[in-house]
Amino acid sequence: MGGQKRGALIVLEGLDRSGKSSQCASLVSFLQQKGLEAEAWRFPDRTTAVGTMLSSYLTSATELDDHAVHLLFSANRWEKRALLEGRLKAGTTLVVDRYAHSGVAFSAAKGLDLEWCKAPETGLPSPDLVLYLNIPAEVAAARGGYGAERYEDIGFQKKVALQFELLRASNWEVVDGRLSFDDVQEIVRKHAVSAINKCQGGRDLLRLW
Ligand code: TMP
Ligand code: MG
Repeated sequence: MGGQKRGALIVLEGLDRSGKSSQCASLVSFLQQKGLEAEAWRFPDRTTAVGTMLSSYLTSATELDDHAVHLLFSANRWEKRALLEGRLKAGTTLVVDRYAHSGVAFSAAKGLDLEWCKAPETGLPSPDLVLYLNIPAEVAAARGGYGAERYEDIGFQKKVALQFELLRASNWEVVDGRLSFDDVQEIVRKHAVSAINKCQGGRDLLRLW
């Protein structure tokens, strides 16, 4: 066939302070050191116009209806969709800190209908792998404490964890986030390399959900 092999869409999910951001950065360096094309991405992407609205909502500078902010989080993924797909097709693996699963879990935890929350994400590229860093909300909160952002509250994070459980699917790997950084890193690397190999072997890019 000879066509260029696509990169993998690898998403890290979990509660706030579950270790996602550090593991994302570490995974990208590891892949790059292996000579692979890899980039770190994150949602929300606060650099866009929509992202600026989300950022001011998260810092409680502004208030928004729960449904409206849900749609903005989703729009923030859609506005990056063409770039994201282009990168994957060009052979770059994307390591993404949060994606549609956070979008659904955080809004559903507020009481919005789960199916309503999933609907605007329908058609986005589906991750080849979701690494869920599983950590009790109390343990996450004890890690240097939360910052001042909206949602950084143990009671709310417990509700988010329950919603994440409802979203688990066959492309998920649940990793014990209480393990040491190095142990989590090793597990993350193993699953990531396996996902990348499957994509290079011709695995189709699927769509949510
Ligand atoms: P961050 O801490 O990873 O920057 O994310 C900011 C907060 O936004 C975090 O508490 C999770 C929440 N969030 C949503 O509510 N919906 C979404 O779609 C995403 C990506 C994040
Ligand atoms: Mg945060």
